[in-house]
Amino acid sequence: MNRLPQSRLILSLFSLAIASCATQEPNNAFVSDADSVPMASNADTSTLIPIIDYKERFLPVIARNGMVVGPEQLAAEVGAQILRQGGNAIDAAVATGFALAVTYPRAGNLAGGGFMLIHLADDDRETLIDYRETAPAAASRDMFLDDEGNLDKQREYFSLQSAGVPGTVAGMLYALEKYGTLTREQALAPAIALARDGIPVSYSLFFEISASAQNLRKNPAAERQFFQPDGSAYAVGDIWRQPDLAWTLSEISEEGINGFYGGGVAQLITTEMESGGGLITAQDLADYRVVERQPVRGTYKDFEIVSTPPPSSGGVHIVQMLNILEGYDLQAMGHNSAAYVHHLTESMKLAYADRSLYLADPDFVDVPVTQLVDKAYAEQQRQRIDSNVATPSVDIAPGQLLGSESTETTHYSVADRFGNVVSNTYTLNFSFGSNIVVPGTGMLLNNEMADFASSPGSANAFGLVQGEANKIEPGKRPLSSMSPTIVFRAGEPWLATGSPGGSVIISTVLQTTLNAMVFDMNIATAAAEPRMHHQWMPDVLKMEEGFSLDTVRLLQAMGQNVDMASRTSGRTNSIMLDEGWLYGSSDTRRPGGWVAGY
Ligand code: DON
Repeated sequence: MNRLPQSRLILSLFSLAIASCATQEPNNAFVSDADSVPMASNADTSTLIPIIDYKERFLPVIARNGMVVGPEQLAAEVGAQILRQGGNAIDAAVATGFALAVTYPRAGNLAGGGFMLIHLADDDRETLIDYRETAPAAASRDMFLDDEGNLDKQREYFSLQSAGVPGTVAGMLYALEKYGTLTREQALAPAIALARDGIPVSYSLFFEISASAQNLRKNPAAERQFFQPDGSAYAVGDIWRQPDLAWTLSEISEEGINGFYGGGVAQLITTEMESGGGLITAQDLADYRVVERQPVRGTYKDFEIVSTPPPSSGGVHIVQMLNILEGYDLQAMGHNSAAYVHHLTESMKLAYADRSLYLADPDFVDVPVTQLVDKAYAEQQRQRIDSNVATPSVDIAPGQLLGSESTETTHYSVADRFGNVVSNTYTLNFSFGSNIVVPGTGMLLNNEMADFASSPGSANAFGLVQGEANKIEPGKRPLSSMSPTIVFRAGEPWLATGSPGGSVIISTVLQTTLNAMVFDMNIATAAAEPRMHHQWMPDVLKMEEGFSLDTVRLLQAMGQNVDMASRTSGRTNSIMLDEGWLYGSSDTRRPGGWVAGY
């Protein structure tokens, strides 16, 4: 398949068209232009073909200077406007992050956490800002077990105890101060305006609130926040104002870090905690720290992969699986053929088995990252794969190292005209987190404590088996799967991507990068192709709609336990950068995604 970026001689005439219409719905790029452009019949018009490429069923949005690809239009446009006005990618990422807290409340947040991967063009280096939540000081290993030792899921998922100490505000302000150019007030002003003046309720927002209405209505402050004063739902097109959230954002704008982790907002958080058995104290908030870490690095053939290190498992396992898969001729197998899916499945089983044993917060547990991403370890692991027969998960123990959903998260990608790139994933964990709003703040609490091994050895909300390494400990960060990633080609950033989806984040990012690197797909096609997922336990190969029944039958004959999944897998928001052009795609698996560029 040809990638769109292989267009080389782009007529200046079309540069103008691109500059004027780069902001549009995904997969809709240049439809009107395409209608007016003849098929290649002579030398002059043939140069236009790669832009429109009639071989591709899915097209990215194209821009020249700057781009934000995210889950929601207004917040993506906030970021793009900052880029247009001369801000850099970090400024835009921070402003978009704050704006999503207003416009995309199911996952955009102030009281959640996440990871921001940044490529800094001037320094030619990458850095990872870890703003994952931490367990409160009063948290303990068995805090979610009842008297009989059974997991109390209601308390784990939907109580004040579900919340880890939030990291998002600290992470965004840290990124802005260290790598941005805007003032705090400038970065927060768009989000404050959106919350104060209101936003029209989009179809997606209406759908998201409706889907969680039952849970949100259980919490009086959430009901006040998300429904009309008379209790009825906002309709599509209604203006939804969030004055409490505007106040919280203003506190952060005026006071900085202390406007959230101290002062009035912190007071409201701790009052709420004290009212209902929550654990977060004023001291926990004051103690919260961002950690700037070295990303995880690996290679796949000529590409370099830079991704998220522990306390996320994402980067380690993406690199580990790419190392295993590098030993096979994937191109010859054919994209999404039974042989291809089988080899991906077997490498996923091995990686997710390792996750259950080795991965956790590196500040508490010695995580053997170097060994896990070692090519020699991959070689050893590859020997465990039978190319024709599925290995049952029960026969797969974590490897011996060599030597020494309904759920929601969100990812957005940003690129600026200076060459900086940001890949950011952040979350409240479930859709609308714990579904608890802190009264007076307009702000939902995360339920990230559920990402710990609340009962070591058993599965978490995403079905992931959790080991002792990820047990609850005061101050510890729960193990994550969030995987903001940047792929480099010839030393230059080439693809920024990431996804929500809990356990499927890792397999989603793996397949998106393979689609681009191995099968030469443009980024819209790479996002659209059907995906599969296996996470070792349970021993089930989930396959999205779109695989052929012939493929499914062949996989079953190899011994794979195929489940034609009723749910889609992940939702990427990606930018491909090639020869000075930006190609954006917001995965169509969820409504409302947006590519804003100029
Ligand atoms: O950190 C993690 O891996 C999870 N808390 C992410 C949750 C998530 O992706 C839910 N989204 N669909």
